[in-house]
Amino acid sequence: MDASLNERNEIPFIWTDFRVQDYKRQLEQGIRFRLKDDKDFCVRNIGKNDIDTISRIEKSVFSDPWTEMIIKTYLEDDYYFLAFLGQISNEVVSYSFCRMILDELHIDNLAVRKEYRRLGLGTIMVWMLLKVAKIRDVNRAYLEVRISNGSAISLYEKFGFRKVGVRPRYYADNNEDAFLMTKEL
Ligand SMILES: CC(C)(COP(=O)(O)OP(=O)(O)OC[C@H]1O[C@@H](n2cnc3c(N)ncnc32)[C@H](O)[C@@H]1OP(=O)(O)O)[C@@H](O)C(=O)NCCC(=O)NCCS
Repeated sequence: MDASLNERNEIPFIWTDFRVQDYKRQLEQGIRFRLKDDKDFCVRNIGKNDIDTISRIEKSVFSDPWTEMIIKTYLEDDYYFLAFLGQISNEVVSYSFCRMILDELHIDNLAVRKEYRRLGLGTIMVWMLLKVAKIRDVNRAYLEVRISNGSAISLYEKFGFRKVGVRPRYYADNNEDAFLMTKEL
């Protein structure tokens, strides 16, 4: 991931205080971004106390929401999993869950609450994931996305993800196909 994206103003935030050598501690405490409308957006690690909130948002966003059990799995080991949430004024408004397998990042879940969309939060979440993955020597990122999910596809394409295949009937709730998308970091 290229920090110059920020300098070229291609992402809608100012990155206030992130230091690569200190990223673990900063993710515990929260990394702050300033949105275009001057609101503060803070990204931090998800903790056990966040599970209820995320589970509620998950049910409001997805037709096949993750169970609390699945969410808990992603909190068990911060070497293999990245689990970030984003908040505005202490309100959880977004989250993402990834696995890191050898030199690959798998983005398994990403959501922004409906009332907070189109503010650049999805962009910040993906940017943050790719940034941390790069620090962790990841070489490529993968994800699956519903073929009907134009918003998410467009978000990922903005980061240079390309569609490289289709996984037929990937989603059990309606048998929808998934695009497999990937990006070299
Ligand atoms: C996909 C999602 C995470 C995007 O979050 P967001 O905070 O609204 O995204 P951003 O504001 O950062 O938008 C970034 C880009 O995404 C694309 N995008 C986002 N919403 C869009 C929409 N409704 N229509 C078309 N493109 C859209 C655009 O390319 C946008 O760039 P632009 O604003 O310069 O046009 C959000 O819509 C969401 O949570 N959807 C439901 C869950 C989901 O689909 N998750 C992805 C699973 S793979």
